[in-house]
Amino acid sequence: MNSPRPARILLGVTGGIAAYKTPDLVRRLRERGAEVQVVMTRGATNFITPLTLQAVSGRPVRSGLWDESAEGAMSHIELARWADAVLVAPATADFLARLSCGNADDLLTTLCLATEVPILVAPAMNRAMWAHAATRANVALLESRGVAVLGPAAGEQACGETGEGRMLEPAELAELLLGRLRRERSLAGLKVVISAGPTRERIDPVRFISNRSSGKMGYAVAAAARDAGARVVLVSGPVALPAPAGVECIGVESAEQMYAAVHAALPGADIYIGTAAVADYRPAAVATQKIKKTAENLRIDLVRAPDILGSIAALRDGRPFVVGFAAETEKLEEHARQKLLGKRLDMIVANQVGDGLAFDCEDNSLLVLWNGGREDLGAGSKPLLAERLIGLIASVRGAVRRAPGAAASGEA
Ligand code: CTP
Repeated sequence: MNSPRPARILLGVTGGIAAYKTPDLVRRLRERGAEVQVVMTRGATNFITPLTLQAVSGRPVRSGLWDESAEGAMSHIELARWADAVLVAPATADFLARLSCGNADDLLTTLCLATEVPILVAPAMNRAMWAHAATRANVALLESRGVAVLGPAAGEQACGETGEGRMLEPAELAELLLGRLRRERSLAGLKVVISAGPTRERIDPVRFISNRSSGKMGYAVAAAARDAGARVVLVSGPVALPAPAGVECIGVESAEQMYAAVHAALPGADIYIGTAAVADYRPAAVATQKIKKTAENLRIDLVRAPDILGSIAALRDGRPFVVGFAAETEKLEEHARQKLLGKRLDMIVANQVGDGLAFDCEDNSLLVLWNGGREDLGAGSKPLLAERLIGLIASVRGAVRRAPGAAASGEA
């Protein structure tokens, strides 16, 4: 957003226990310079009073569709036009269902139908409700219509259970929302190819060699690139994640298949981001039948798998801006810098891995290096770091292209 005036956020609060965090959310948004107009559903008022949210937002809270004096001051249609973005936090299962049906039976759902600005929802509910097929279908439908779904996070829940369904923390929501407004369209018109997840190298029909990778970081990067306006092709190894809406997803298994799919997607690409944990070696031969445990020792000959990242960085024609990832257990910066230079990348994203770090976790921490630059993106959830990374890639790529002699770096 280029507008010099403060960002205007319409914050919808629905009736979930996480509503108690919304005064903090309002405070975080205002700290970052935004104006916040709160709209509460009737259910929300059971968890927090309008007076509290009025005090922290500095504006009378709206809740009814039939409030004559409030409508007189600013009608609900004007309110829908006033906002730069609508954030619904917490968004209950019931609210998501009503939004997906296009209901307009209270002020908040009416505003969501009437507005033409981005709508973001931060779901919060019991893990079984979040996992229910009805909620999954409602969320998929909303995503297909362009509603951004922030979270939920996994962890301990107010109901005493543990699982996915916690609302993201207020500080993270504020950064995600305002960051998105600022960076909106920073990759508009660009094509981004991203690899994600592990690869599997077959040993026999029932066994394979693989790397530890949930694919969460790569999928978050794909969603962030999409949100920044890019056309995204995601080439993914086997993971248990739904394809991000609005992203072209190509499923592969082995490093060779990933190599072929990435290169097939590459023509016209402006940026390649290799987040995949690609196998470096594959069995020299794949047994056609299941290997039986007859011998005391078993030896499997391995041969090098193709280096996808290196092959793209070495392209002479149509070379995109090439971003690699370096997962390291020690000497993080040193090893990452070696990969940046050795593979002649434009940028490398280093993350410390090991037991309890990065793998299968919701959080990560990233250090980014490029020729003449270094930025610590800090620690945080994978979606939050992905947003920051995409913003950085857009600005570093822009600076490289503006620099004299940019063509020599191989920029297409
Ligand atoms: N990568 C790739 N193809 C491979 C291996 C890795 O494209 N066959 C990419 C990964 O997607 C990642 C980067 O290379 O972006 C770094 O991967 P990593 O395994 O950490 O580095 P390697 O170069 O394989 O070095 P090493 O395993 O010795 O640390």
